[in-house]
Amino acid sequence: MWRKWGIMLVEILLLLMSGGVTAKTCGVISTESHTVQLGSPFFASCAVGKQFCPDLDQDVQVIWKLDRNIIPSKDHNDVQQNKSSIYFRSFNKTFAALYCYFQMDEGLQLMDRVEINAGYPPAKPTNLMCQLNLTDDRLVCSWQLGRNPLLKTNATLSIARTNKDCKPIEGKKYNCVPQPGETSCTIPRLEFHFTQKHAVWIVVQNELGSVNSSYLCVTPMNYVKLDPPVIKEAAPVISLPGCVRIQTKKSEPGSYIEQWYQLRYRKADENQWIEVQPTTKDSDELEYCNLSPATRYRFQVRCIRRFLEGYWSEWGSDASVLTAESAPIGKMKTWWRILKATGDGPTQIQLLWKALKKEEANSENPWYVVGISLDPYQSANVVCNTTSLNCTFHLPHGATGAFLWVYNTAGHSPVMEIDFRDRKIPGMPVSWIHVFPNTDNSLAVEWKLQAMAKSYVLEWRKSTQHLESDFNWKTEPDGSSFSILQDIEPFQQYTVWVYPIYENQVGSPVLINAYSRQGIPEFAPKLTLIRVTKSSAQLSWEPIPLERRHGFITNYTIFWADNDRTFSATLNSSLTRFEIRNLQPLGMYTVLISCATAEGSVNGSVLMIYTTLLDEIEIHVLIMVLCVASVMIVTGSLFLCLAKQGVKKKFWPVVPDPANSSMGKWSPVSHEVPKMSLNIREINQMITSDLTILEGWAVKKPPATDVTKCNPVSFEHKPECSKDNTEGPYINVADTVQYAKVITGGYLGQSPTSTSHLRSNSTQPLLSDISPSPQTYENMWFHSNNQEDSIFLIKDKNLSNFPLLQALKIQEDREVFSF
Ligand SMILES: *[C@@H]1O[C@H](CO)[C@@H](O)[C@H](O)[C@H]1NC(C)=O
Ligand SMILES: *[C@@H]1O[C@H](CO)[C@@H](O)[C@H](O)[C@H]1NC(C)=O
Ligand SMILES: *[C@@H]1O[C@H](CO)[C@@H](O)[C@H](O)[C@H]1NC(C)=O
Ligand SMILES: *[C@@H]1O[C@H](CO)[C@@H](O)[C@H](O)[C@H]1NC(C)=O
Ligand SMILES: *[C@@H]1O[C@H](CO)[C@@H](O)[C@H](O)[C@H]1NC(C)=O
Ligand SMILES: *[C@@H]1O[C@H](CO)[C@@H](O)[C@H](O)[C@H]1NC(C)=O
Ligand SMILES: *[C@@H]1O[C@H](CO)[C@@H](O)[C@H](O)[C@H]1NC(C)=O
Ligand SMILES: *[C@@H]1O[C@H](CO)[C@@H](O)[C@H](O)[C@H]1NC(C)=O
Ligand SMILES: *[C@@H]1O[C@H](CO)[C@@H](O)[C@H](O)[C@H]1NC(C)=O
Ligand SMILES: *[C@@H]1O[C@H](CO)[C@@H](O)[C@H](O)[C@H]1NC(C)=O
Repeated sequence: MWRKWGIMLVEILLLLMSGGVTAKTCGVISTESHTVQLGSPFFASCAVGKQFCPDLDQDVQVIWKLDRNIIPSKDHNDVQQNKSSIYFRSFNKTFAALYCYFQMDEGLQLMDRVEINAGYPPAKPTNLMCQLNLTDDRLVCSWQLGRNPLLKTNATLSIARTNKDCKPIEGKKYNCVPQPGETSCTIPRLEFHFTQKHAVWIVVQNELGSVNSSYLCVTPMNYVKLDPPVIKEAAPVISLPGCVRIQTKKSEPGSYIEQWYQLRYRKADENQWIEVQPTTKDSDELEYCNLSPATRYRFQVRCIRRFLEGYWSEWGSDASVLTAESAPIGKMKTWWRILKATGDGPTQIQLLWKALKKEEANSENPWYVVGISLDPYQSANVVCNTTSLNCTFHLPHGATGAFLWVYNTAGHSPVMEIDFRDRKIPGMPVSWIHVFPNTDNSLAVEWKLQAMAKSYVLEWRKSTQHLESDFNWKTEPDGSSFSILQDIEPFQQYTVWVYPIYENQVGSPVLINAYSRQGIPEFAPKLTLIRVTKSSAQLSWEPIPLERRHGFITNYTIFWADNDRTFSATLNSSLTRFEIRNLQPLGMYTVLISCATAEGSVNGSVLMIYTTLLDEIEIHVLIMVLCVASVMIVTGSLFLCLAKQGVKKKFWPVVPDPANSSMGKWSPVSHEVPKMSLNIREINQMITSDLTILEGWAVKKPPATDVTKCNPVSFEHKPECSKDNTEGPYINVADTVQYAKVITGGYLGQSPTSTSHLRSNSTQPLLSDISPSPQTYENMWFHSNNQEDSIFLIKDKNLSNFPLLQALKIQEDREVFSF
């Protein structure tokens, strides 16, 4: 019952697959084999069973497909003798499905399908070898397969007893089939004898063929691979520098076997092992020489059955040995510099040297000794005994050189003599040097070769570093004209010196500044207003500190702008002053400085400038005019007053004699007040040059001597002294503006206005730190509370801000201002 159902089910499925026609019997593919050698010809045919398919046309058309591709009809012959054949000249797919279809009215009808595998017959296995492991007594044989056959392929390893010629004895053999994918087999202990001959071979086969390996003749004990020996002790041989002695111990399972050993070693900081010739005796003590002194090495040992019967063991674990030191050889590179000197020559010297190369020092930790000897027949007086690479010492009078040598536990190097007289007369410098960036952290130096030079010394350090502080140096041999300086900080200026070294003489150094990389300055300088007039403004600035410049300043640009227009001027980077001209009177300007390096520029903060209405000279003229006018008014008033009081006593008005009047007592009490004179003979001079009086006012406490030389503006770092002494002292013109206003008003109104102290609305910074209102000493003429003396004063106290009246102060000791 179940079977019947099953058959029906199959029939239904076939019916569905074939689209209503019982295809299976209508067409059948036949091939020689479903496995074909890749690249070889392949033939297939699809037989048309018309007897089973009476509905088929007489000339049914057959369509072939290989995988999804229809094979063109020119590649196969049509249905003749009731079958269609197809022929591949060279079948080149490793796996493919071949389909046979009939062309029907309803479309293509699948008749049959076969799968085809293509590949190669197995190649002969090679490198068949066996290894005996004494730990687990197993014989493991392995081999290599040739070209991949691309087909399912199996291998069988066989081992058999042999006759004398190593031919297997028929019948008695053990077969081993490796795990799929493996190429080795383990033969159990029972299937072989340690010391008898066996034949071992492999048969490899697949559907395309079978191949046997050649026979391997194996006496298992001759194929033993021992476990490596253990290094018990490894130590330098002190009596023989460059030699080591190594104690080994055989591994347990093979300890009864006589063994030979091989040593290999490498320097601790290198990767390449160096193998030593194997020993030919079974001794557990190995000795090896030819090593460098004072060097750390790593050693490994392996073993083999004596007479090299078997395989080398793996290399055992490492042992590390530091070889013994031997006396240093070689000469240090030296350099020296004078730290202190008198007319006679250097008195304090720093001697510097470069560490000897490892293979010259023959020690990990060499010591250097510097000695000075006045008498060549006496032993040198040791001034340094050090592991560092420099020595600073006082050079005794009469000494002209020093001795330098290096020593270690095994001995010392030859003594070098350094002559300090070789710089007495400097030799020729190199004719040019060029320093340029190499990387961000290194500089390249190039110089012109100097005939006769034996070598060159390069010194370099950050330009900001103090002379006495650490510097770097290196030597370059004769004939070299190029060097790379490492460990350079970017954005920092370095100074590089090149000295040619001659026989018994050192050449003058040539120096140059350089950056490994430039950047934009950290900030632009702060602008300071020195003076401003109605049409000009004078500015100054401090150069940016070197370590914050980040590059060579190529130029400064000053920008100034009023409401409408912006102007600019580009200046040489060596300048620190600039005067803006052609400004409008009573104008407001914004000013800023931009500072450029090759990498870009940075702008400073904006400074506001207010130009004045009048120039100093105009103000001075005004002062004088007003001065004369005021005196006339006062004199006139006095005259009127006296006349009113009674003419009985005096007919003539008493014109006060300023020299003898009590005004003489009004001379300043404080010595802070600068001496001022307004001698009539000086007026001309005063008008044409700067008014030194006013200058004194601008400064609360001017330095006694420096006032005309140094700019008293307090800069962040230091006062800037004008290089040009002919340049006159400046005047706080901003304040002058205010007073000028006052004076003008008073003059016009014939009497000072009540708001006589008019301060400018300017927020312009004053040059010096002047408090908002004038100080008392500026106005002491008016500050006296002496009633008697106030007779000359105009009642309005606010007038006390009149500087011009102060200028009238009469000197006690000199000829007075006369009316
Ligand atoms: C082809 O098949 C038909 C029907 O079975 C048969 O009569 C005929 O003889 C066959 N022809 C050949 C050449 O075999
Ligand atoms: C396989 O053979 C076909 C037809 O001969 C050819 O077109 C194709 O390039 C061949 N492919 C390879 C991988 O050789
Ligand atoms: C190895 O392959 C051949 C051919 O495919 C087959 O006849 C034989 O039985 C296989 N042997 C084993 C051990 O699988
Ligand atoms: C391969 O070895 C088998 C026995 O394992 C043997 O029967 C056969 O003849 C050998 N074939 C060749 C080609 O040596
Ligand atoms: C021998 O066999 C043991 C245990 O399987 C293994 O630990 C050891 O490495 C083998 N020795 C060699 C030389 O292969
Ligand atoms: C240097 O110092 C070491 C120990 O500090 C001493 O053994 C050695 O003799 C000294 N060498 C000289 C030349 O003074
Ligand atoms: C001199 O040696 C000391 C100590 O090793 C070191 O710190 C210093 O940098 C050296 N000076 C120079 C200029 O090399
Ligand atoms: C800047 O001025 C200095 C000194 O006057 C001069 O040597 C230098 O050539 C000038 N540089 C430029 C770029 O004009
Ligand atoms: C100022 O320096 C910058 C940067 O090096 C440069 O590009 C520019 O041409 C210089 N300007 C003048 C006027 O030299
Ligand atoms: C600096 O200021 C000038 C004028 O205002 C402007 O043209 C320039 O772009 C500014 N430069 C930088 C780097 O901000």
